[in-house]
Amino acid sequence: MKDILAFETVALDDENSKLVIIDQTQLPGRVEILHLETQQEIFEAIYLLKVRGAPAIGVAAAFGIYLAAKRIQTEDYSSFYQDYKKASDYLESARPTAVNLAWALRRMEQVVTENADKSISQIKALLLQECRAIKEEDTDMCRRIGEHGLSVLKDGAGVLTHCNAGLLATSKYGTALAPIHLGRERGMNFRVFTDETRPLLQGARLSAFELMADGVDTTVICDNMASQVMKNGWVDAVFVGCDRVAANGDACNKIGTSGVAILAKHYGIPFYVLGPTSTIDLSTPTGDDIPIEQRPAEEITHMWYEKPMAPDGVKVYNPAFDVTDHELITGIITEHGIARPPYTESLKELFTKQGTSAKGCGE
Ligand code: MRU
Repeated sequence: MKDILAFETVALDDENSKLVIIDQTQLPGRVEILHLETQQEIFEAIYLLKVRGAPAIGVAAAFGIYLAAKRIQTEDYSSFYQDYKKASDYLESARPTAVNLAWALRRMEQVVTENADKSISQIKALLLQECRAIKEEDTDMCRRIGEHGLSVLKDGAGVLTHCNAGLLATSKYGTALAPIHLGRERGMNFRVFTDETRPLLQGARLSAFELMADGVDTTVICDNMASQVMKNGWVDAVFVGCDRVAANGDACNKIGTSGVAILAKHYGIPFYVLGPTSTIDLSTPTGDDIPIEQRPAEEITHMWYEKPMAPDGVKVYNPAFDVTDHELITGIITEHGIARPPYTESLKELFTKQGTSAKGCGE
């Protein structure tokens, strides 16, 4: 069996006719590769978190909409566009918080609208190019995020992370875990504490799995143990990913992240958010404006238990994400460098300095 590091999280098959993903709901027990074709299969894979993590769902949606476009049988632009838009809206509705999903679909749609004068088969060929480019750029961005992240870490450092913002959440390397993987390539070692991340256990199941496969000294802790681990002096920095960063630097990430940030502030530990500029949404002014996905109650009451672990009919609150206030964030590490407070200025600067190469949201 190949090592998990050798698999691609999200890809197109050789005939460009199927979306190929690792079914992350089966990890770490089983590495199952899925070949998905229909829009419903791809929608469900995103909704059920078979493919997950903000950048990875962006890439999956780009491949997914290409596959949908390929199946539209017409030579007439306006009926092509009508069907295309329907498929795109459907995929976008799978998950509302991670802005990369909408970002990738908007980028793909631009290819359609900017080439209205071309034949439908030419448009389909351009869509294929664009979705491949989105994936390649994601790999490149993650590597660069890793370089910038490494600049604030010493060999042997203790890092605490929450959820999975690793290679399983992106095309390669990850965001929050990119410095760790990159450091490993260079013979460095880190001690990583991964919160199990209730309720879907991305930290225990996924981060621990990929970190151990890379030979990283990995310790899983329950979410409520982070304070003790910090108090013990074992954490030099917190590295987390993000699903959407607002223009003022408020950062939305997996539920529980904001609590970790509050603890880090208490113990004087630097708290870094790592993500590509495609996750920065300058059109969303503050964290209060970010839509938070609510998930089914069963994920808390039934999913990981042989028998239900909460009384039948109990009320459940299950938001998938929370917002970390910008005041708690030491730096936002992107492929273009590290933004520091005040974020209202530094995030804007990231885009203006990089000109058109920084195609962030809201630009
Ligand atoms: O619900 P998930 O598993 O898709 O949530 C993922 C996260 O919150 C990640 O930290 C975030 O998407 C960044 S992934 C590089």
